[in-house]
Amino acid sequence: MGNLDGQVAFITGAGSGIGRGTAERLAREGANICIADIDMDGGEHTASTVREFGREALVVPCNVASIEQVQEAIAKCVSGLGRLDVAVANAGIGRGGTVLEMSLKDWQDQVDINLTGVFLTVQAAAREMVRLGNGGRIICMASLAAEVTGAMSWSYSATKAGVRMMVRGWAQELGQYGITVNAIGPGVIDTPLAHGLAGDEGGPIRTALERRTPAGRAGRPADIAGLIAFLSGPDAAFMTGSYLIMDGGLRDARSPELNPQLEEERMRHMAAAVERRQKLQPLIDAR
Ligand SMILES: NC(=O)c1ccc[n+]([C@@H]2O[C@H](COP(=O)([O-])OP(=O)(O)OC[C@H]3O[C@@H](n4cnc5c(N)ncnc54)[C@H](O)[C@@H]3O)[C@@H](O)[C@H]2O)c1
Repeated sequence: MGNLDGQVAFITGAGSGIGRGTAERLAREGANICIADIDMDGGEHTASTVREFGREALVVPCNVASIEQVQEAIAKCVSGLGRLDVAVANAGIGRGGTVLEMSLKDWQDQVDINLTGVFLTVQAAAREMVRLGNGGRIICMASLAAEVTGAMSWSYSATKAGVRMMVRGWAQELGQYGITVNAIGPGVIDTPLAHGLAGDEGGPIRTALERRTPAGRAGRPADIAGLIAFLSGPDAAFMTGSYLIMDGGLRDARSPELNPQLEEERMRHMAAAVERRQKLQPLIDAR
């Protein structure tokens, strides 16, 4: 018996990283999972793991920046899996850049997906939860970057700080329907998104980061998935409007001296991340 037996969770960006880890964890807790992503191959990969746990998985194409696609994905979730108990607004992208160089397109994509996408997901999910009348749990993916920022990461931080504040307002509005809304602030978690920042295991950037982190390692999707399982389960019934950081202690760790060799390595990894992004760009633009 799991904490979420027979429940249904809708997770955006569940075709990779934290979203995939969350789908697997909530399935282990007994939930059937609706996987909403622009990456159908990634979504199917996640679905096969969910099914290994004996749970139902439904993969729906969904660009969170499109109101039509989000509304359709929520409708398919409820018609396909029969209910909606948990919604995780997890899909997000990172677009680093200086204020002198940031293009309007990079700014806009980040706002459309990280901020508007969370709004559209929560609106569609909450409307359905209110209609069904069983309450619900909504978890939104912010970041440690909602309160810590710097050169090149300010635009990502702005979107994540926005998520953190939206959640506080939504908690006020949705409590009367038995719906809780919380935000999570992960530190550096080992996923494709973070790869450009932290590099490979054993590499210089990753090693420096691990040394700097009090917990001695980067986070894993399973770490964050555990927190989402808690927020989805009975022990979190009294928690709403909160922002929970899980970062291995990184927030208060001292920055290392600027090391030119490390900086060069970091730039190399950022270039690799840009390459991966260019592969996804046509999917992001199809809205
Ligand atoms: N990895 C980290 O260190 C870290 C830290 C803090 C916060 N986060 C946040 O966690 C969330 C998940 O990140 P991740 O690290 O697992 O990244 P990831 O790149 O591994 O996964 C992101 C998923 O979102 C999907 N996606 C991208 N754009 C989409 C769109 N428009 N519509 C629907 N799906 C879309 C991608 O296809 C992918 O499957 C993001 O919101 C990210 O900002 C990550």
